[in-house]
Amino acid sequence: MRKPLIAGNWKMNATGETAAALARSISDQSPAYGAVDLLVCPPFCYLQAVAAVLEGGTVLWGAQNMYHEPGGAFTGEISAAMLKDCGATHVILGHSERRHVLGETDEAINKKTLAAHQAGLIPIVCVGELLSEREAGQTGAVIRRQFDRSLAGLSAELMAATVIAYEPVWAIGTGKVAAPQQAEEVHADLRRLISERYNAGAADQVRILYGGSVKPDNAAELLAQPNIDGALVGGASLKADDFLAIAAAGTLLAGDDVDRPQTR
Ligand code: 13P
Repeated sequence: MRKPLIAGNWKMNATGETAAALARSISDQSPAYGAVDLLVCPPFCYLQAVAAVLEGGTVLWGAQNMYHEPGGAFTGEISAAMLKDCGATHVILGHSERRHVLGETDEAINKKTLAAHQAGLIPIVCVGELLSEREAGQTGAVIRRQFDRSLAGLSAELMAATVIAYEPVWAIGTGKVAAPQQAEEVHADLRRLISERYNAGAADQVRILYGGSVKPDNAAELLAQPNIDGALVGGASLKADDFLAIAAAGTLLAGDDVDRPQTR
């Protein structure tokens, strides 16, 4: 059974003060959500402040990007080892904003994915189609191409330890969530692909998150899909109550008998 992972991508938001306060609020309430893994990904510069708050608890922290080289003259970049040194367990790679706003390629994402694993960080590798690609009936082909190129060169064991996030670009920050069935179709395709490219065991183990306008009021339906193993949450992860209401939906599905905070 795959344990749901509810991850917050804070993007380029927060101040030192609000980052620590948000982490504190999530951490204080986290004991009710033991059936899911909780992860927050603040901006680099607040990682240590968030780590100081979360240290010793169950909420994990990670980063939103990294560079593949281990060190040297790469001005402005951050290595996997530096993230590990800050206590990060995960790193989001190939987010659509990095692909489409900052021009990151599948090849660059692949180098980062391999480097993250080498350093012992779990990569959360994002894939997702543009609206024009969906409308042209290319969703499956785009996802397969991004998967094959971004995740090339992994052993079956490392594949199993990788987290994939399906984030349709048209659903990110737009309030237009994918219909649960639409998302499930892509998730099931991805799992089939992992089984073909690697093996059934790896396919069974890999956690595939959905991201794109996940909110307290749509999380339960999305997370109820058999191949959706958690959520990568943007906007709603900036409010502890909303983030934890999404976690509650995952907690219920994981079969944990806890009081469920009100979802709106
Ligand atoms: P929103 O939840 O704000 O749509 O963002 C999704 C996302 O990009 C998470 O990585």
